[in-house]
This record gives sequence, C-alpha cells and structure tokens, in this order.
Amino acid sequence: MAATIKIHDKVFTPFISKETIEQRVAALGKQIDEDYAGKNPLFIAILNGSFIFAADLFRHITIDAEISFIKLASYKGTSSTGNVVTAIGMEEQLHHRHIIILEDIVDTGKTLYSFLPEIELRQPASLKIATFLSKPSALKHPVHADYIGFEVPNKFVLGYGLDYDGHGRNLPELYELVED
Ligand code: IMP
Repeated sequence: MAATIKIHDKVFTPFISKETIEQRVAALGKQIDEDYAGKNPLFIAILNGSFIFAADLFRHITIDAEISFIKLASYKGTSSTGNVVTAIGMEEQLHHRHIIILEDIVDTGKTLYSFLPEIELRQPASLKIATFLSKPSALKHPVHADYIGFEVPNKFVLGYGLDYDGHGRNLPELYELVED
C-alpha cells in the first residue's frame, strides 16, 4: 500500500490504488472500443492533466482510431461572458468526425462548458466526453460526461496526471488531500 505523502504544506493520503485504476481504465477502453466499432473516432485529450489517462485508455482501443492533444487557454472575453476558453493545437478536421474528449477531471465543469461550443461549431458527427474522474457534488455547469472512470467526493485529489502546484502527476495511484 502506498504511503502518505507531503507536497509543500499539504499532506495527501492514498485513495484509489494503481491496480483499481488499471482495471477501471481497461474496462472504459473496452466499452468505448465496442461503442465506436467502425466509426474511426478521434480522441481529443486536454493537456496537461489527461495525458496519463489518455495514454493508458488509448492502449485499450483496438479499433481504428486517432488521437490528438490540445491545450486550453482562457482569456477575458470582450463582453460580459467572462472567460473564454480556446484550444491551442487543434489542427484536425472535426467535421463529420466522431469526437471523444478526454479529461482528467470534471470538477465545476467550467472548462468543458466554455470549450465544448468551439467543438460543436465544427459540426462533428458526434461528441462525447470521457473523464477519468468526476466530482458530481462540485458541478456548477451543465456538463454531462458519457464515460466516467470514478466518481469522487468534493475533495482535492492528486496523482495519475493530476497535480498540486505542478507536482504529483507521476504518481501511479490517486491520493486525496488530508484537510487540516
Ligand atoms: P473544472 O472546474 O471542471 O473546470 O476543472 C478544471 C481543471 O481543474 C481540471 O481539468 C483539473 O486540471 C483541475 N482540477 C480540478 N479539480 C482538481 C483536483 O481535485 N486535483 C487536481 N486538479 C484538479
């Protein structure tokens, strides 16, 4: 069993084991593999957080499929809409493609809620979201994830691609913050 770890001022305790994560990601991959047979889906992984999940999930896909990685940048909109999120690195043609967005976690849903219209504008054949984690009790925007690895309580988590101040992404298991 992994031990408690400390990053800066915060203490994290093991939450979901490496083996449990591996099994769940394999099951998700198998499900997507079956659902998208013959559709040549295009996975779009949102950096940085989803890179480990994306790499592991994608290795369970056996059908013909493509993957691309994008980064999101937010800037202040000129109107009262507030922050606008735009994608950096999106070069693929999305028109008529079956798109699966890969995320590390849907927390408040703000990121995806702001970004999904940019995808929808390009008129894909279908658009679904696969997220490693979902925090349903933190959700503030109407974002529906179609494939969810684990639903977690509204606590800060770390590892398997998710960071605290840039650290901890390389941890193979998931940790949760110990509140002081
Ligand atoms: P949103 O609130 O759904 O827009 O989440 C935005 C981003 O915040 C996620 O893609 C993560 O990168 C990050 N995030 C949210 N919750 C956590 C957490 O518990 N640990 C680490 N990163 C998080």
